[in-house]
Amino acid sequence: MIKVREGSNSRMLSVGAYQPSRIVPNSEIVDKIDSSDEWIRQRTGIETRRFADADESVLDMAEAACRQAISRSGIAVEDIDTVILASITYPFQAPSAATALIARLGNPKAAAFDINAACAGFCYGVGMANDFIRAGSSKYVLVVGVEKLSDFLDPYDRGTAFIFADGAGATVIGPSDEPGISPTIWGADADSRDAILMEPTWLAFKHGAPDGIWPNISQQGQTVFRWAVFSMSKAGIRIMEAAGITPDQLGAFIPHQANVRIIDSMAREMKLPESVVIADNIRTSGNTSAASVPIAMSALLEEHPELHGQLALLIGYGAGLVYAGQVVQLPPKW
Ligand SMILES: CC(C)(COP(=O)(O)OP(=O)(O)OC[C@H]1O[C@@H](n2cnc3c(N)ncnc32)[C@H](O)[C@@H]1OP(=O)(O)O)[C@@H](O)C(=O)NCCC(=O)NCCS
Repeated sequence: MIKVREGSNSRMLSVGAYQPSRIVPNSEIVDKIDSSDEWIRQRTGIETRRFADADESVLDMAEAACRQAISRSGIAVEDIDTVILASITYPFQAPSAATALIARLGNPKAAAFDINAACAGFCYGVGMANDFIRAGSSKYVLVVGVEKLSDFLDPYDRGTAFIFADGAGATVIGPSDEPGISPTIWGADADSRDAILMEPTWLAFKHGAPDGIWPNISQQGQTVFRWAVFSMSKAGIRIMEAAGITPDQLGAFIPHQANVRIIDSMAREMKLPESVVIADNIRTSGNTSAASVPIAMSALLEEHPELHGQLALLIGYGAGLVYAGQVVQLPPKW
């Protein structure tokens, strides 16, 4: 019979985040899309977002967030045996961003790979990290979500130019006496994969795409909005059921930061009591896709230190359409 390893429970040991220094207010976006600061605030909640400089890369941002998460975790970088990097904006097919990251971090022997689950990427990664540790395949896993969406935005597109932004967020997940991460509820609705697209493909350039064409993100805003409001609150309820908890046991709700109206509607549908602190970091960060949940978590813990160690419901969703979420015990104070 094949030998199997004994795993252990796992939990988040820390979270770290990095956001570029350049703050971009709505006023800088509106002229090209015939919009207004008021419309963007009302429809999305976004007031400002961060854009990276031209020479600030996905790897630069990922490294900064990871270094913060690692230093807060109390774990030496060499003890991390697995690195999962979630992104849709790393501009190379191979080698992976994760291998470039571990070389930079000075831990080039760790298992490392990229995943593409769009705005659900971080929660997909957290689910995998938990399962790797439970199965004994890994002991300390670094999960990072990072995006430089400003490189893939058409500033003239009324459906996306004001939504997406740049940044990185990371967590170190390690063994724990008690379960600190619930089973992950995840899935897709691949019949709706045209609802969010990045087109044309890189190959279009080889085959002579016209000058001025560049892969940009586009979306059917209303389709995504309706799907998120209808399906993601149901997914949130299933996540809590899988974790064996009721809404009043949550300290925080940290959903993907796509739109405050979606966040508010999910909280209502899931009947979260007022005691649950809701992350609405989208107001100053925009939608940073795979980075949005850990950036929001880091900001929430800075604002509400009493939430360290409490339970939080995480849920990410996006292009695919895909989603994933879990209940986690927030990291202890660092
Ligand atoms: C993109 C989004 C903010 C658009 O808001 P909306 O309320 O659905 O907007 P609609 O497309 O229905 O357009 C409503 C009106 O606003 C106008 N409008 C559309 N985009 C506009 C813009 N950028 N600025 C100003 N007005 C705009 C439309 O022309 C329309 O005008 P009309 O009523 O006179 O015809 C919203 O659909 C959304 O957030 N969807 C979810 C997207 C998302 O979360 N994506 C990421 C998931 S990972």
